[in-house]
Amino acid sequence: MMSERRPLILGNWKMNTLPEEGRLVARQMVPMIRDGLHLRVDWGLALPFTHLSALRAELEGWGMMGGQDCSAHLQGAYTGEISAAMLAAMHCTFSLVGHSERRTHHQETSATCGLKIDRLRDQGLMAVYCVGETLEDRQRGNFSKIITSQLMDALGSRIQSLDSNGLVIAYEPVWAIGTGLTASPEQANEVHAMIRYWVVQHGGAMLAEQIRILYGGSVNASNAKDLLGCSDVDGALVGGASLKARDFTDIVLSSVG
Ligand code: PGA
Repeated sequence: MMSERRPLILGNWKMNTLPEEGRLVARQMVPMIRDGLHLRVDWGLALPFTHLSALRAELEGWGMMGGQDCSAHLQGAYTGEISAAMLAAMHCTFSLVGHSERRTHHQETSATCGLKIDRLRDQGLMAVYCVGETLEDRQRGNFSKIITSQLMDALGSRIQSLDSNGLVIAYEPVWAIGTGLTASPEQANEVHAMIRYWVVQHGGAMLAEQIRILYGGSVNASNAKDLLGCSDVDGALVGGASLKARDFTDIVLSSVG
């Protein structure tokens, strides 16, 4: 059963496509989604920084555009970093924070993610905070402990100052990302319900009722409907399948039943 929360489907293009190729994908995607659908579902793409300018005209008015990361710093001598203010200036409305690939390859901690969430909040951008356990954690039955500490370390001291426009949580089991393995709808919903309960305890019942919790990890056009049909799954964060206009559109369609 879908909840009252408006579905949110985000694509994460990671380090794929060149700007012109990406523009062509968005150009195919937008007309398929905009025929009425964009009024019932929120959707957007987390793009490489180099694509923001090329895709802005394609997405504007129809879908959201966001970054895949932002700096924990305001500005200054941080070579290679992109600030939240820079994202805002490029008309981004959100950014991913704490994706497992950033945690694994760039040693990003949950505490750093908290600072990034502060920077995004200062700019009025929505933070999509990603959490999830490794296969080892899942096999050891440790997953709730890991996810709770990821929530606590990044959000514990700030969730009271965030609202459901400023914060989305994405549950992405690391073992399901890019592997073709997905959590079953039951596994996903169990973790989503646990995350929502954590929000009740730390952010209050009203925020917990409103906040959107996305599932990510090998979501595709065939499994999206079952995952999105779960009571605590409010949308999806889609990697590989978001690079194909038809597949991503089908996932967006699945979110509205
Ligand atoms: P995937 O990636 O859909 O290719 O598994 C999801 C993600 O990393 O956000």
